[in-house]
Amino acid sequence: MSEPVAFSAATNTKIAELLGRYPRKQGALIPTLYLAQDEFGWLKPEVMQLVADKLELPLASVLATAMFYTMLYKKPVGRFHVQICTNVSCYLLGSDELMAIAQQALGLAPGESTPDGLFTLEAVQCLCACDRAPTLQINKDDYFKVTPAKFKELLAQLKTDGVKLGPPVGWLADQHHAHA
Ligand code: FES
Repeated sequence: MSEPVAFSAATNTKIAELLGRYPRKQGALIPTLYLAQDEFGWLKPEVMQLVADKLELPLASVLATAMFYTMLYKKPVGRFHVQICTNVSCYLLGSDELMAIAQQALGLAPGESTPDGLFTLEAVQCLCACDRAPTLQINKDDYFKVTPAKFKELLAQLKTDGVKLGPPVGWLADQHHAHA
């Protein structure tokens, strides 16, 4: 049975502010999903239900929107979500090498997460910075004109940080939940 989830008071306040900006509650759906993701890490089914209840929308509308946007996570992501752009400009300037470095350093294929919850690796489409290719994003931070040497350094630093920070809150329970 799924555990009940509830927004924190801080998130409820932000949602109330959002709702004040839109004539219809549906208009606030995407920003509310992002707030929910910030709070719970990913959009597990009960979180989508919570959003549906909050905005008085059918669950199907919330699901359809969440499924459409790749930046809305439908499965748990690790502490560091490494997203490498594999579109044309980045590909021509070496994104395949960056991907190979990440796969080797993290022991992951695209779409996978390390069992310790520290890293998720993803191949993504254009990050809208083609003029600064190759580009990648880690959580909400963008990295431009990334060289193999810089990327290796960055991953090594994140590994060190990850040991101190540990996995996201609820990682193990969420893993179990996602695969149940
Ligand atoms: S192709 Fe990579 S940012 Fe556009």
